[in-house]
Amino acid sequence: MPDLHRLATAVLRLLPPETAHRVTVAALAAGLVPPLRAADDPALRIRLWGREFPNPIGLAAGFDKDARAFAGCLRLGFGFVEIGSVTPRPQPGNPQPRLFRLPEDAAIVNRMGFNSRGLDYAAGRLAHRRAKDGIVGVNLGKNKDSTDAASDYAAGARRLAADADYLVVNVSSPNTPGLRALQGREPLAELLEAVRAARAEATPTRPPPLLLKIAPDLTEEDKSDIAEVALAGGADGLIVSNTTTARPASLRGRHAREAGGLSGKPLFGPSTAVLADMYRLTGGRLPLVGVGGVASGADAYAKIRAGASLVQLYTALVYQGPGLVHRIRRELAARLRADGYQRLEQAVGADHRSPAARPAETVR
Ligand code: FNR
Repeated sequence: MPDLHRLATAVLRLLPPETAHRVTVAALAAGLVPPLRAADDPALRIRLWGREFPNPIGLAAGFDKDARAFAGCLRLGFGFVEIGSVTPRPQPGNPQPRLFRLPEDAAIVNRMGFNSRGLDYAAGRLAHRRAKDGIVGVNLGKNKDSTDAASDYAAGARRLAADADYLVVNVSSPNTPGLRALQGREPLAELLEAVRAARAEATPTRPPPLLLKIAPDLTEEDKSDIAEVALAGGADGLIVSNTTTARPASLRGRHAREAGGLSGKPLFGPSTAVLADMYRLTGGRLPLVGVGGVASGADAYAKIRAGASLVQLYTALVYQGPGLVHRIRRELAARLRADGYQRLEQAVGADHRSPAARPAETVR
C-alpha cells in the first residue's frame, strides 16, 4: 500500500499545484485513499486541554479548508487535523494562479486568500463527525470585504465551537489585507475577548480551547505583546507559525518572487526561532503548536525541544506523500527514547533547560 501512496504522490506532482490539491482532497473525501494505520506508540501520546492526542503530529490548516476530508486525513496517521481557515460567508479567494511549487527549495508560495465555502458549509460537514474519527481543530478567518474583524471571528466561534476540539483565531495569513495588524496588543485583546464571549455563548459547559495562530514575521514588541495578551487569559495556546512574507536569499525555485506566503523547508529555521521566543516569553505556561518546515522526525523533535507540545505540517506532505506521517512518528519515538525520555511531554522545551535538568543521555 505505501507504494501506491508513493506512486500517487509522484503522479500528482505532474499536475498543476491547485489541480493536484483538488484531486487529493476529493480522493480523501471520497474515502479513495487507503488508510495508513499503525499502532500508536504510547510515548507519543499527550494530554492537552483535557483532550488526549494519540500522537503530536497534526495536519496544518489550509489543506482541508472546507472540512471535506478530515476523516480521510486522520486515517493517514495524523494525531489531529485542523480544518479551515473558514470565513463567515463563502468567498472565492484570489485569482489563479495562486499556488506555486518551489521543488528546488522543498517549499511552496501561496496567496490563496482564504478561498472558503463559509461557515454553513463547514458546519454541515462537521456534523458528520464521529468521535472515532479523531481530533479536529477549526481554524477561523475573516471575509476579505468585512470591515469588522472581531465580529467575523466571533461569528465563526459561535457557529463552530460546538463541533471543534479546539478553535483557532488566524490573524497571520499574509494574503488578506490588514489581517496581520490584528496581532498588535489592543486589537488582539479586543478580538480575543469577542471570540471568547461568542465561544461561551455557544458552548457554556465545555468550551473548546482557543488558540491564536501567529506569523513568523513579528517584531520583538509584537511577540511580547502577544505573550502578554495570551497569558492574561486571551488564548489557551499559540500556533507558531503561519507562512512568511520573507524570501531568503538562498531560494532557487523560479517562483520564489511570487507574492504570498512561503512555507516548507526555508521556513523551518525562522518559525522555530519564533517558537522558542514564545516559549521563553510565556514561561512554558501555555501549550504551543510548532509548525513550519517540518519534514522529518528530527524536525518534529527540534520543534518539541524548542517548546512545542504539538507539531503540524503541510508542505512536506506535498513533496513526500502521506507515508511521511508514520515515518515522522517512528523517528520521533526513537529520538525520544535515545535521549532517555519515556514520554513526549518530558521533552517539551528541553532546549530551554540546563543540561543537568535533562536525562543524562541528552548531555552531548
Ligand atoms: C496554508 N496555511 C494556512 N494557515 C492558516 O492558518 N489558514 C489557511 O487557510 C492556510 N492556508 C494555506 C494554504 C496553503 C496552500 C499552504 C501551503 C499553507 C499555512 C499552514 O497552515 C502552515 O502554517 C504553513 O504552511 C507552514 O507549515 P509547512 O507548510 O511549512 O509545514
